[in-house]
Amino acid sequence: MALGKIPRFSPSFSSAELLTVMASLTRRGDERAVISQFEHEFACYIGTRHATMVPSARYGFHLILRGLGLKPGDEVIVPALTYWAIPAMAVAAGLKVVPVDIGPHTHVMDPAAFQAAITKDTRAVVPTHLFGTPCDMPRIMEIAQQKGIHVIEDTAQATGARVRGRRAGSFGHASYFTFGLTKNMTTLSGAMVTTDDDSLGEFLHAEMASASPAPVLRALKETMVGSAMMMATHPLIYPFTVHPMVVLGNRLGKDPIHERFGEEERRYDTIPTHYQRSRPRAVQAAVGLKQLTRIEKLNGARIANGRFLDEHLANVPGLGVPTYPPGTEPIYMSFVVHHQRRDALATALRTRGVDTTIGYMSNCAQHPLFPELRRDCPNTAMAMRELLHIPVHPNLTRKDLTHMVEAVRAACLEVRE
Ligand SMILES: Cc1ncc(COP(=O)(O)O)c(C=O)c1O
Repeated sequence: MALGKIPRFSPSFSSAELLTVMASLTRRGDERAVISQFEHEFACYIGTRHATMVPSARYGFHLILRGLGLKPGDEVIVPALTYWAIPAMAVAAGLKVVPVDIGPHTHVMDPAAFQAAITKDTRAVVPTHLFGTPCDMPRIMEIAQQKGIHVIEDTAQATGARVRGRRAGSFGHASYFTFGLTKNMTTLSGAMVTTDDDSLGEFLHAEMASASPAPVLRALKETMVGSAMMMATHPLIYPFTVHPMVVLGNRLGKDPIHERFGEEERRYDTIPTHYQRSRPRAVQAAVGLKQLTRIEKLNGARIANGRFLDEHLANVPGLGVPTYPPGTEPIYMSFVVHHQRRDALATALRTRGVDTTIGYMSNCAQHPLFPELRRDCPNTAMAMRELLHIPVHPNLTRKDLTHMVEAVRAACLEVRE
C-alpha cells in the first residue's frame, strides 16, 4: 500500500512470467512437448489421470458435454449464481438448464437444492467453486452417484482449493479451470480440463489436436496487458494512475476497470468457430509451468489474507461475511462481503482508498438472456443485491489488511441506516 490506496486486485503475472515468455518465444522446438509437460504436471497437481489444455473454460465445458454424450433435451443443473457463459454454452448445446440456489453466504451450490431439482431427465450437475470456495463435494458426489448423474466441476475460480485434503477438480467426472490474467493462476489466457475418464481424456486430446493454434501475436499482446497490469497495480504507481480514474469513474456512476476487462453477455445460437482456431501455444504452457512452481506460495498468501479478514470482519454491524461448506479449504480468489447498502459502502470504501468491485457473476435464474430458466432462488437474488468483493490478493501487506479492516468498520458506521 502507498498513500493508503489499495487496488481491488493484483495479477499473479510477474517479472518471473515475463522472463518465461521471453525465453519461450526465443526457443525453437517441439510445441507439443511443452504443452504435454504442463498438462502432465497440472494433472499431478490436481490429482487426476488426464489434463488437456483448451482455449477457454467455457469451450472446455462444451467439449465435456459432447464427450459425455449429453443430448438435446437432457437436463443440467447449475448454481443460479454463475458466469453467464456457462448456461449460454449449455443452452447452445440444446440442453435444459436448471438453476438452483446457493447457500445464504457460501455463494456455492446448496446440495439440498441440487437434490430437490433432480428429475428423470437430469444428466449432469455443475458444482461451481465460486470465489475460491469449494462446494460440499462429498455430499454432491453422494447425491449424484445415487442417481447416476455426471458431475462437471467448475473450478474456474478455485485452482488449488481443497475439500478434506483433496483438490477441487478431482472429485467429479471432469472439471474445467481457467487461467486468464485476473485469475489466481495464469497462462496469459487459456484453460484446462481434467478427468480420470480415459475415453473422455482421449476425446479431449483428439479435439484439441485437430484445432488450429492461436496466433503467437495474441500471446504477445496478452503479455503486454499482463505487464501493464503489473505496473498499474504497483504500490508506487497505482495511487497516481488507476486509483484517481476509479474514483472519478465512481462519481460518474461507472466502473472503468470493469468496462475495460468485462465481456459482453450474450446467447450463443451455435458454438463460435473461433474456439477451433485457438489451440493454446507452448508459450502459455511455459507460463503455466512457471506458475505451478509458485501457486502454493500465491495461494498461501491469499489464504493468510482471507483468514485475517474472516477473523477481523466477523462482528462488524451491518456486514455479512462469507461462510464455507464443511471440510473445505478455500483459496480466497475473492473475499465477498454482504451489505444492504452495498453501493454506498463501496463509495465510502473508495474514499478511504480501498477499491472494491461487485464482480461479474449473474443470477442466471433471472437473466434477461435466458427467460426460459426463470426460477426463484432467493439466496442468489440477495447475493446479487448485496455482495461486494474487497481486496484479498497476494500482494497485500499486514499494514494494508489492518487499514482495510479499519476502513470497512468506519465505512459501515458511515452508511448505516
Ligand atoms: C465461475 C466461472 N466459470 C466459467 C468461466 C469461464 O471461463 P472462460 O472465460 O475461460 O471461458 C469463468 C470466467 O472467469 C468463471 O469465473
